[in-house]
Amino acid sequence: MATTEDKAATKENVSSWKDSIYNPRTGELLGRTACSWGLILLFYLVFYCFLAGMFALTMWVMLLTLDDNVPKYRDRVPYPGLVIRPHALDMAFNKSDPPKYAQYVKNLESFLQRYNDTKQESNEDCPPGDYFMQDDAPEKKVCRFKRSALSFCSGLSDTNFGYSEGKPCVLLKMNRIIGLKPRGDPYINCTVKKDNPIQMQYFPSEGRIDKMYFPYYGKNIHEDYVQPLVAVKLLLTKEDYNKELAVECRVEGSDLCNNDERDKFLGRVTFRIKVVE
Ligand SMILES: *[C@@H]1O[C@H](CO)[C@@H](O)[C@H](O)[C@H]1NC(C)=O
Ligand SMILES: *[C@@H]1O[C@H](CO)[C@@H](O)[C@H](O)[C@H]1NC(C)=O
Ligand SMILES: *[C@@H]1O[C@H](CO)[C@@H](O)[C@H](O)[C@H]1NC(C)=O
Repeated sequence: MATTEDKAATKENVSSWKDSIYNPRTGELLGRTACSWGLILLFYLVFYCFLAGMFALTMWVMLLTLDDNVPKYRDRVPYPGLVIRPHALDMAFNKSDPPKYAQYVKNLESFLQRYNDTKQESNEDCPPGDYFMQDDAPEKKVCRFKRSALSFCSGLSDTNFGYSEGKPCVLLKMNRIIGLKPRGDPYINCTVKKDNPIQMQYFPSEGRIDKMYFPYYGKNIHEDYVQPLVAVKLLLTKEDYNKELAVECRVEGSDLCNNDERDKFLGRVTFRIKVVE
């Protein structure tokens, strides 16, 4: 049984433990006076403000060195990939059954909206044959590319792009690369892996890609830029129907890479097409 002395000691202990949180005699909270706490808070406030300031300053200096339109770290201009429209690498359709090719025609038509002649009329009529340099111009002009330049593949004279007659058109374009200036005279050449060659028609003639559409300055300052297109019309005949044809198209005549082992879309594209009657 505990003595009265023990009880008194316990009481004292409790009160000193309470004092360590808040001591009413000295006004200390957790062993510090209000003034001491105030100094600590002030110190951390100043310290963190200083850190935040440092961070903001470095960020600001970093951003000053960046140009919105040109990627900062790039040792050389990369090569562009080649893509086709309609957006399908495996096409098959019955030329006598419109719903079967309607998706391709629709895809081509909506893609060519940007190349609408009326719209392109407001763009610059650039001198052909050379790069259209405008490094110093704050507002970059866009060289005009009218869909009517694609002739039978423009969707204007033949609204089915040749799909209904079994001589379908496919459009090719290179991906946009900022600052790309292809050397030589690039053109598109398509071949079909097959014994007897398939006749093809190119628009613009010889599948040429004019250099006036280069360089591209980036989407912020070269907003309405349109890539030059090449249309290829596959002049298929009865013997070519009901067979899956592998068509390979390449950019040739320039320094653009078209035979990379690892990337088979660099400067070239292969698609399959099968037309049935
Ligand atoms: C293609 O469509 C036509 C018209 O609908 C049809 O008569 C023909 O059998 C179809 N051909 C094939 C191979 O399905
Ligand atoms: C081109 O645009 C004009 C005006 O926006 C429009 O009236 C015309 O139908 C369009 N042409 C084509 C072929 O889409
Ligand atoms: C297109 O490519 C084929 C196969 O590589 C080649 O035989 C042909 O000469 C090329 N045509 C042109 C115009 O370069």
